[in-house]
Amino acid sequence: MSSCTWVCLLFNLCTLLSSYPALSDPFLGEKGLTEIPSKFLNLAKRPELFEYMVRIRRSLHENPELGYEEFETSRLIRNELDGMGIPYKHPIAVTGIVGYIGTGNPPFVAIRADMDALAMQEAVEWEHKSKVPGKMHACGHDAHVAMLLGAAKMLQEHRSDLEGTVILVFQPAEEGGGGAKKMRDAGILENVNAIFGFHVSSSYPVGTVATRAGPVMAASGFFEAKISGKGGHAAIPQHTIDPILASSNIIVSLQHLVSREADPLDSQVVTIAKFQGGHAFNVIPDSVTIAGTFRAFSQESFMQLKHRIEEVITLQASVQRCNASVNFYADEKPFYPVTVNDKDLHKHFQKIAGHMLGDENVKEVQPLMGAEDFSFFAEAIPGYFYYIGMVDETEGRIAPGHSPYFKVNEDALPYGAALHASLAATYLLEHPPPIATQKLSSHDEL
Ligand SMILES: *[C@@H]1O[C@H](CO)[C@@H](O)[C@H](O)[C@H]1NC(C)=O
Ligand SMILES: [Zn+2]
Ligand SMILES: [Zn+2]
Repeated sequence: MSSCTWVCLLFNLCTLLSSYPALSDPFLGEKGLTEIPSKFLNLAKRPELFEYMVRIRRSLHENPELGYEEFETSRLIRNELDGMGIPYKHPIAVTGIVGYIGTGNPPFVAIRADMDALAMQEAVEWEHKSKVPGKMHACGHDAHVAMLLGAAKMLQEHRSDLEGTVILVFQPAEEGGGGAKKMRDAGILENVNAIFGFHVSSSYPVGTVATRAGPVMAASGFFEAKISGKGGHAAIPQHTIDPILASSNIIVSLQHLVSREADPLDSQVVTIAKFQGGHAFNVIPDSVTIAGTFRAFSQESFMQLKHRIEEVITLQASVQRCNASVNFYADEKPFYPVTVNDKDLHKHFQKIAGHMLGDENVKEVQPLMGAEDFSFFAEAIPGYFYYIGMVDETEGRIAPGHSPYFKVNEDALPYGAALHASLAATYLLEHPPPIATQKLSSHDEL
């Protein structure tokens, strides 16, 4: 063989290789770590991908489904994953799906979206208004699904550059049903090193994100109490045991738990949101039902509140000769733990979001007394939760989540998709697995 043949062969090989971008110019190279976030943002803003996410989001918006009933939503997601060639497990926690992109080997990093809608009537008149009376995507979970699918598309396109495995988590029933707990209990976080999740926000402009290290949302629980007395004529109270007056005193006494028993610097909430009893002007009813929610920023304060709520309700009822029973619905509405952002993931987030959006657009939030069932994931493994701004500053204020006038600003979609993809891909690059365990814990479905 002459030397020319060798040179030509080499030359051909090189042109062949260089036409194969994954080899000569990896999209996700360790060297280009600082550029990955903006690369993903540019990809996510491409008209094909943007329009894809808009289409998914509008289709889900028209067909909202409540917690653990997300059957069509789940089917749509699985069809999309099939189309992308992404393997997944289903069903987990009734309608949940877990997809896998990458090597199938450690490290494993998860990105999460919730899928459920709310039991309320949409009041926004637009082309893609909810077609289901009394149900609405008023919390933006339709957009969350669209953005996770957008991220999946980008990651799948560049899967040969992933140094580990990205786990896509589509969970049911965030709105009180604790879908994340069921997914966690089903073992989806086994061997997973970290998980990222976000929520769209009506408080921050498009192109900004907001978050903080440590506790970001409260622990939350619900309770209902039945206060039983003895009904009778409203004008002959001495022959009755009045549960309305007893319940009124209970509600007032419950206010003292936060104002007198809690440390003023340890934020807590007790709210009675339901008070039902009686039908007539002149009849004292047999019983009254009250219900509400309680919140705290530590597990200790939370359990103390729970204990005292029960005690105050039953003892205060007995002061007025009533009986009371308290139900915390721990099975149907599991207590949500405090959502705590991992400190190392906070550094990772600030770096990646800063590269993508500019440091000035990575805002710090105050903790909120709201709750998120993402906390069940973040309780089990290092987790990180943040807000994606979606305020269009030219349009002024937008209705907050859970309002019948809530609207998602679709311009925010590329940011959520790009952050999901960037946080996961760069996490894998920065967390090479220990060599010895490299093969041990691979997910066998890949
Ligand atoms: C409360 O419970 C006790 C014990 O079961 C019962 O004797 C009493 O009648 C009840 N009182 C009311 C007002 O329901
Ligand atoms: Zn919500
Ligand atoms: Zn929500």
